[in-house]
Amino acid sequence: MDVDDINTITVLGAGNMGHGIAEVAALAGYTVNLRDINEEFVQKGYDQIEWSLGKLAEKDRISEDDAETALDRVGTFVDIGESVADADVVVEAVPEKMDIKKEVYEAIDEAAPDHTIFATNTSSLSITELSEVTDRAEQFCGMHFFNPPVRMQLVEVISGEHTSDETMDAIEALAETMDKTPVRVRKDSPGFIVNRILVPLMNEAAWMVHEETATVAEVDSTTKYGLGHPMGSFELADQVGIDVGVHVLDYLHEVLGDAYRPCPLLEEKVEEGNLGKKSGKGFYDYE
Ligand code: CAA
Repeated sequence: MDVDDINTITVLGAGNMGHGIAEVAALAGYTVNLRDINEEFVQKGYDQIEWSLGKLAEKDRISEDDAETALDRVGTFVDIGESVADADVVVEAVPEKMDIKKEVYEAIDEAAPDHTIFATNTSSLSITELSEVTDRAEQFCGMHFFNPPVRMQLVEVISGEHTSDETMDAIEALAETMDKTPVRVRKDSPGFIVNRILVPLMNEAAWMVHEETATVAEVDSTTKYGLGHPMGSFELADQVGIDVGVHVLDYLHEVLGDAYRPCPLLEEKVEEGNLGKKSGKGFYDYE
């Protein structure tokens, strides 16, 4: 498929990443079908898009008119079949569980048109394994955005074992029309590029606090003022979602070995439901 043939993009999952990806697609001029499993979740995602567009306009990053037009391009869906019926590209951003993602792909493979490309926003799971539950593995790749999608420049475009060059080219070109910088990941390897680097950093930060070498605030000062990162490691964990970090670590641990064992401090936060900004509390309070 040529990028000029892409008009409608379905985003599955209206959570932290899904609503942000839908917003980016709408700002780029695409018709967006945003879908989640119930009215409440999909409405929450829609409201977050409205909030974010309002913020961008308030900060003069876009005009009020652009914000309004972008929001008008977003339709909300609960029925998964309806949401993909006219999609040229589906970007899937449902929870990071292999079983849930496979169920979603089984449901949409029949319902989506033959030409539709499936792109998963998974942070680390195998693109090849996901693609194999569909009859279109050559039209399947990773399209990994970063949090918050509307502000982060990078999109990793990941090839599975069966992905065609045409699919990779189309999704890279799509990322460019969204004003993003795509980076091609040539091998379907756990954590791809960014999370293979980032998540161990968060984990080491947690181990240092767990071992009482430094406090959360001290570690964050070092990552900001010593490494020049825009956020401290714990601020970033709260931004990304501590549960997301732990999911990626669990997977890296399983596939790559003990160096990636999640620190108990991260696991405790997840058990307590303190997942970061999205739950109102993580390493910091947001209420
Ligand atoms: N939409 C619109 N506005 C938003 C927003 C969003 N989604 N999220 C935050 N903002 C707003 C804030 O509310 C704030 O507004 P106020 O000043 O009114 O409170 C404002 O943006 C802050 O923006 P600034 O430009 O003033 O601040 P900044 O220069 O610090 O930029 C940032 C913010 C771009 C998030 C920056 O801190 C940054 O780059 N942080 C690092 C983020 C990062 O590394 N993300 C990747 C995570 S890894 C990942 O996502 C992959 C994975 O699979 C785990």
